Amino acid sequence: MEVRSLGWQTDLMVRRLAGSSVEDRGDHIVVRTPHNPDYWWGNFFLMPAPPRAGDAETWLAQFAAEFPGAAHVAIGLDGVDGDVGHEPDLRAAGLVPELSVVLTTTTLPQPVRVDPAAEVRALTTDEDWEQETALRLLVRDVDEVAGERFIRRRIAETRELIDSGRGLWVGGFVDGRLVSSLGLVTDGSGLGRYQTVETHPEFRRRGLAGLGIRHAAELAMASYGVNRLVIIADVDYFALDLYRRLGFADAERQAQWERPAPSG
Ligand SMILES: CC(C)(COP(=O)(O)OP(=O)(O)OC[C@H]1O[C@@H](n2cnc3c(N)ncnc32)[C@H](O)[C@@H]1OP(=O)(O)O)[C@@H](O)C(=O)NCCC(=O)NCCS
Repeated sequence: MEVRSLGWQTDLMVRRLAGSSVEDRGDHIVVRTPHNPDYWWGNFFLMPAPPRAGDAETWLAQFAAEFPGAAHVAIGLDGVDGDVGHEPDLRAAGLVPELSVVLTTTTLPQPVRVDPAAEVRALTTDEDWEQETALRLLVRDVDEVAGERFIRRRIAETRELIDSGRGLWVGGFVDGRLVSSLGLVTDGSGLGRYQTVETHPEFRRRGLAGLGIRHAAELAMASYGVNRLVIIADVDYFALDLYRRLGFADAERQAQWERPAPSG
Protein backbone atom coordinates (compact mmCIF):
# COMPACT_ATOMS: atom_id res chain seq x y z
CA MET A 1 0.00 0.00 0.00
CA GLU A 2 1.46 3.33 -1.00
CA VAL A 3 1.15 5.91 1.77
CA ARG A 4 0.24 9.33 0.35
CA SER A 5 0.18 11.47 3.45
CA LEU A 6 3.33 13.09 4.79
CA GLY A 7 1.85 12.82 8.27
CA TRP A 8 1.52 9.04 8.08
CA GLN A 9 4.77 8.63 6.13
CA THR A 10 6.63 10.29 8.98
CA ASP A 11 4.63 8.43 11.64
CA LEU A 12 5.67 5.16 10.00
CA MET A 13 9.25 6.43 9.66
CA VAL A 14 9.41 7.07 13.41
CA ARG A 15 7.78 3.72 14.25
CA ARG A 16 10.23 1.78 12.04
CA LEU A 17 13.24 3.56 13.53
CA ALA A 18 11.89 2.93 17.02
CA GLY A 19 11.78 -0.80 16.40
CA SER A 20 8.08 -1.30 15.66
CA SER A 21 7.12 -3.69 12.90
CA VAL A 22 5.32 -2.13 9.93
CA GLU A 23 3.68 -4.82 7.82
CA ASP A 24 2.15 -3.98 4.48
CA ARG A 25 -0.85 -6.26 3.89
CA GLY A 26 -1.64 -4.74 0.51
CA ASP A 27 -4.97 -3.20 1.47
CA HIS A 28 -3.83 -1.94 4.88
CA ILE A 29 -0.75 -1.61 7.06
CA VAL A 30 -0.34 -3.16 10.51
CA VAL A 31 1.97 -1.40 12.95
CA ARG A 32 3.00 -3.31 16.04
CA THR A 33 5.17 -2.26 18.99
CA PRO A 34 5.73 -5.39 21.11
CA HIS A 35 7.88 -3.51 23.62
CA ASN A 36 4.93 -1.22 24.42
CA PRO A 37 1.61 -3.00 23.76
CA ASP A 38 -0.30 -0.28 25.65
CA TYR A 39 0.82 2.36 23.15
CA TRP A 40 -2.30 2.79 21.01
CA TRP A 41 -0.54 4.63 18.17
CA GLY A 42 2.28 2.11 18.23
CA ASN A 43 -0.24 -0.72 17.72
CA PHE A 44 -2.59 0.35 14.98
CA PHE A 45 -3.95 -0.12 11.47
CA LEU A 46 -3.41 2.34 8.66
CA MET A 47 -6.17 2.14 6.06
CA PRO A 48 -5.76 3.52 2.52
CA ALA A 49 -9.01 5.47 2.54
CA PRO A 50 -11.79 6.55 4.91
CA PRO A 51 -14.42 3.96 5.86
CA ARG A 52 -17.52 3.52 3.76
CA ALA A 53 -20.85 2.27 5.10
CA GLY A 54 -20.40 -1.37 6.04
CA ASP A 55 -16.61 -1.22 6.52
CA ALA A 56 -16.67 -0.80 10.30
CA GLU A 57 -17.64 -4.38 11.11
CA THR A 58 -14.89 -5.84 8.92
CA TRP A 59 -12.28 -3.41 10.17
CA LEU A 60 -13.06 -4.04 13.83
CA ALA A 61 -13.03 -7.81 13.33
CA GLN A 62 -9.65 -7.57 11.55
CA PHE A 63 -8.28 -5.36 14.31
CA ALA A 64 -9.46 -7.76 17.03
CA ALA A 65 -7.90 -10.70 15.17
CA GLU A 66 -4.61 -8.84 14.76
CA PHE A 67 -4.45 -7.48 18.33
CA PRO A 68 -6.37 -10.06 20.39
CA GLY A 69 -5.18 -8.73 23.75
CA ALA A 70 -5.72 -5.04 23.03
CA ALA A 71 -8.30 -3.04 24.95
CA HIS A 72 -7.95 -0.13 22.54
CA VAL A 73 -8.72 0.32 18.85
CA ALA A 74 -6.61 2.68 16.73
CA ILE A 75 -7.15 3.11 13.00
CA GLY A 76 -5.43 5.75 10.90
CA LEU A 77 -6.75 6.88 7.52
CA ASP A 78 -4.29 7.69 4.79
CA GLY A 79 -5.34 10.88 3.01
CA VAL A 80 -4.61 14.59 2.98
CA ASP A 81 -7.99 16.26 3.45
CA GLY A 82 -9.02 15.00 6.89
CA ASP A 83 -12.00 12.97 5.65
CA VAL A 84 -13.07 10.67 8.51
CA GLY A 85 -15.49 8.74 6.28
CA HIS A 86 -18.78 7.09 7.22
CA GLU A 87 -19.19 7.78 10.91
CA PRO A 88 -22.28 6.09 12.40
CA ASP A 89 -21.02 2.50 12.64
CA LEU A 90 -17.64 3.37 14.15
CA ARG A 91 -19.26 5.81 16.57
CA ALA A 92 -21.78 3.12 17.56
CA ALA A 93 -18.81 0.87 18.39
CA GLY A 94 -17.44 3.54 20.74
CA LEU A 95 -14.76 5.02 18.47
CA VAL A 96 -14.22 8.75 18.07
CA PRO A 97 -12.67 10.54 15.10
CA GLU A 98 -9.64 12.78 15.58
CA LEU A 99 -8.35 15.42 13.21
CA SER A 100 -4.89 16.93 13.08
CA VAL A 101 -3.12 19.41 10.87
CA VAL A 102 0.20 18.42 9.30
CA LEU A 103 2.45 21.44 8.84
CA THR A 104 5.80 21.74 7.10
CA THR A 105 8.60 24.14 6.39
CA THR A 106 11.91 24.03 4.56
CA THR A 107 13.31 27.11 6.29
CA LEU A 108 14.42 27.66 9.88
CA PRO A 109 11.50 28.37 12.23
CA GLN A 110 11.56 31.90 13.66
CA PRO A 111 10.80 32.03 17.41
CA VAL A 112 8.17 34.58 18.42
CA ARG A 113 10.12 35.59 21.52
CA VAL A 114 13.30 34.65 23.33
CA ASP A 115 13.45 33.89 27.06
CA PRO A 116 16.85 35.22 28.20
CA ALA A 117 16.76 32.99 31.31
CA ALA A 118 16.56 29.80 29.26
CA GLU A 119 19.38 27.58 28.11
CA VAL A 120 18.37 25.44 25.16
CA ARG A 121 20.45 22.34 24.43
CA ALA A 122 20.25 18.68 23.45
CA LEU A 123 19.54 16.08 26.17
CA THR A 124 22.46 13.74 26.67
CA THR A 125 22.99 12.55 30.23
CA ASP A 126 21.06 10.09 32.42
CA GLU A 127 20.04 13.04 34.55
CA ASP A 128 18.70 14.92 31.52
CA TRP A 129 16.54 11.90 30.65
CA GLU A 130 15.34 11.48 34.24
CA GLN A 131 14.29 15.13 34.10
CA GLU A 132 12.52 14.43 30.80
CA THR A 133 10.58 11.62 32.49
CA ALA A 134 9.61 13.88 35.41
CA LEU A 135 8.49 16.64 33.02
CA ARG A 136 6.40 14.22 30.93
CA LEU A 137 4.70 12.77 34.03
CA LEU A 138 3.90 16.27 35.23
CA VAL A 139 2.64 17.64 31.90
CA ARG A 140 0.48 14.53 31.36
CA ASP A 141 -0.66 14.56 34.99
CA VAL A 142 0.25 10.89 35.43
CA ASP A 143 0.19 9.57 38.96
CA GLU A 144 -0.70 5.88 38.64
CA VAL A 145 1.67 2.97 38.18
CA ALA A 146 0.42 1.83 34.76
CA GLY A 147 0.64 5.38 33.41
CA GLU A 148 4.16 5.81 34.70
CA ARG A 149 5.25 2.44 33.29
CA PHE A 150 3.87 3.49 29.92
CA ILE A 151 5.74 6.83 29.97
CA ARG A 152 8.98 5.16 31.07
CA ARG A 153 8.72 2.66 28.20
CA ARG A 154 8.07 5.46 25.72
CA ILE A 155 11.06 7.42 26.98
CA ALA A 156 13.35 4.37 27.00
CA GLU A 157 12.38 3.80 23.37
CA THR A 158 13.02 7.45 22.55
CA ARG A 159 16.40 7.47 24.22
CA GLU A 160 17.50 4.42 22.24
CA LEU A 161 16.38 6.14 19.06
CA ILE A 162 18.29 9.31 19.87
CA ASP A 163 21.40 7.52 21.17
CA SER A 164 21.55 5.53 17.92
CA GLY A 165 21.75 8.75 15.90
CA ARG A 166 18.20 8.85 14.50
CA GLY A 167 17.50 12.32 15.73
CA LEU A 168 17.78 14.59 18.72
CA TRP A 169 15.90 15.63 21.81
CA VAL A 170 16.15 19.23 22.92
CA GLY A 171 15.38 20.77 26.30
CA GLY A 172 14.79 24.27 27.60
CA PHE A 173 16.46 24.63 31.01
CA VAL A 174 15.85 27.40 33.55
CA ASP A 175 18.29 27.41 36.48
CA GLY A 176 19.40 23.93 35.44
CA ARG A 177 15.87 22.54 35.56
CA LEU A 178 14.31 21.03 32.44
CA VAL A 179 11.02 22.86 31.83
CA SER A 180 10.40 22.34 28.13
CA SER A 181 11.33 19.67 25.62
CA LEU A 182 10.71 18.15 22.22
CA GLY A 183 12.25 15.75 19.76
CA LEU A 184 13.04 15.56 16.08
CA VAL A 185 13.48 12.19 14.35
CA THR A 186 14.87 11.51 10.88
CA ASP A 187 15.83 8.50 8.77
CA GLY A 188 18.35 10.40 6.65
CA SER A 189 15.89 10.96 3.79
CA GLY A 190 15.79 14.72 4.42
CA LEU A 191 12.48 14.55 6.29
CA GLY A 192 12.54 15.48 9.98
CA ARG A 193 9.50 14.86 12.16
CA TYR A 194 8.96 16.70 15.42
CA GLN A 195 7.83 14.75 18.47
CA THR A 196 6.20 15.50 21.81
CA VAL A 197 6.44 19.29 22.20
CA GLU A 198 5.86 20.01 25.89
CA THR A 199 6.40 22.87 28.35
CA HIS A 200 5.94 22.83 32.12
CA PRO A 201 2.62 24.63 32.88
CA GLU A 202 4.38 27.26 35.01
CA PHE A 203 6.80 28.14 32.22
CA ARG A 204 4.40 28.50 29.31
CA ARG A 205 4.12 31.47 26.93
CA ARG A 206 7.72 32.50 27.54
CA GLY A 207 8.82 31.29 24.15
CA LEU A 208 10.41 28.03 25.32
CA ALA A 209 8.67 25.69 22.89
CA GLY A 210 9.45 28.05 20.02
CA LEU A 211 13.10 28.23 21.02
CA GLY A 212 13.38 24.44 21.25
CA ILE A 213 11.72 23.98 17.86
CA ARG A 214 14.21 26.44 16.34
CA HIS A 215 17.22 24.84 18.03
CA ALA A 216 16.22 21.32 16.97
CA ALA A 217 15.78 22.54 13.39
CA GLU A 218 19.24 24.14 13.38
CA LEU A 219 20.88 20.95 14.64
CA ALA A 220 18.88 18.71 12.32
CA MET A 221 19.62 20.79 9.24
CA ALA A 222 23.30 21.19 10.09
CA SER A 223 24.12 17.65 11.20
CA TYR A 224 21.36 15.23 10.15
CA GLY A 225 20.74 16.24 6.53
CA VAL A 226 17.19 17.37 7.24
CA ASN A 227 15.73 19.74 4.66
CA ARG A 228 12.00 19.46 5.33
CA LEU A 229 10.50 19.74 8.80
CA VAL A 230 7.15 18.17 9.64
CA ILE A 231 5.07 18.90 12.73
CA ILE A 232 1.53 17.86 13.65
CA ALA A 233 -1.04 19.54 15.88
CA ASP A 234 -4.62 18.79 16.88
CA VAL A 235 -6.97 20.78 14.71
CA ASP A 236 -8.51 22.63 17.66
CA TYR A 237 -5.45 23.13 19.89
CA PHE A 238 -3.51 26.39 20.20
CA ALA A 239 -0.18 24.68 19.42
CA LEU A 240 -1.34 25.09 15.82
CA ASP A 241 -1.11 28.91 16.15
CA LEU A 242 2.36 28.57 17.62
CA TYR A 243 3.58 26.42 14.73
CA ARG A 244 2.06 28.75 12.13
CA ARG A 245 3.67 31.76 13.80
CA LEU A 246 7.03 30.01 13.70
CA GLY A 247 6.70 29.76 9.93
CA PHE A 248 5.21 26.31 9.37
CA ALA A 249 2.53 26.12 6.67
CA ASP A 250 -0.49 23.83 6.67
CA ALA A 251 0.16 20.97 4.26
CA GLU A 252 -2.58 18.43 4.92
CA ARG A 253 -5.15 17.17 7.40
CA GLN A 254 -4.74 13.84 9.11
CA ALA A 255 -7.70 11.75 10.23
CA GLN A 256 -7.86 8.79 12.58
CA TRP A 257 -10.34 6.80 14.66
CA GLU A 258 -9.62 5.71 18.19
CA ARG A 259 -11.30 3.83 21.00
CA PRO A 260 -9.23 4.35 24.14
CA ALA A 261 -8.70 1.43 26.46
CA PRO A 262 -10.81 1.78 29.60
CA SER A 263 -8.68 3.38 32.32
CA GLY A 264 -8.18 2.00 35.79
C1 LIG B 1 1.79 23.82 23.30
C2 LIG B 1 2.91 24.10 24.30
C3 LIG B 1 4.04 23.13 24.02
C4 LIG B 1 3.41 25.53 24.07
O1 LIG B 1 4.57 25.72 24.88
P1 LIG B 1 5.09 27.19 25.26
O2 LIG B 1 6.48 27.03 25.74
O3 LIG B 1 4.11 27.86 26.13
O4 LIG B 1 5.07 27.88 23.82
P2 LIG B 1 5.73 29.27 23.40
O5 LIG B 1 5.86 30.13 24.61
O6 LIG B 1 6.94 29.02 22.59
O7 LIG B 1 4.64 29.83 22.41
C5 LIG B 1 3.62 30.59 22.87
C6 LIG B 1 2.61 30.79 21.72
O8 LIG B 1 1.84 29.58 21.56
C7 LIG B 1 0.44 29.89 21.49
N1 LIG B 1 -0.14 29.59 22.81
C8 LIG B 1 0.48 28.99 23.83
N2 LIG B 1 -0.37 28.84 24.87
C9 LIG B 1 -1.54 29.36 24.48
C10 LIG B 1 -2.82 29.49 25.12
N3 LIG B 1 -3.04 29.04 26.36
N4 LIG B 1 -3.82 30.06 24.43
C11 LIG B 1 -3.61 30.52 23.18
N5 LIG B 1 -2.41 30.43 22.52
C12 LIG B 1 -1.39 29.85 23.17
C13 LIG B 1 0.41 31.40 21.26
O9 LIG B 1 0.59 31.64 19.88
C14 LIG B 1 1.60 31.83 22.08
O10 LIG B 1 2.08 33.09 21.75
P3 LIG B 1 1.61 34.34 22.67
O11 LIG B 1 1.94 33.97 24.09
O12 LIG B 1 2.41 35.47 22.10
O13 LIG B 1 0.13 34.47 22.46
C15 LIG B 1 2.42 23.96 25.77
O14 LIG B 1 1.23 24.70 25.93
C16 LIG B 1 2.19 22.53 26.22
O15 LIG B 1 3.09 21.89 26.76
N6 LIG B 1 0.98 21.97 26.06
C17 LIG B 1 0.69 20.62 26.50
C18 LIG B 1 1.36 19.57 25.62
C19 LIG B 1 0.86 19.62 24.20
O16 LIG B 1 -0.31 19.43 23.94
N7 LIG B 1 1.78 19.88 23.24
C20 LIG B 1 1.44 20.08 21.84
C21 LIG B 1 1.54 18.87 21.05
S1 LIG B 1 1.06 19.24 19.35
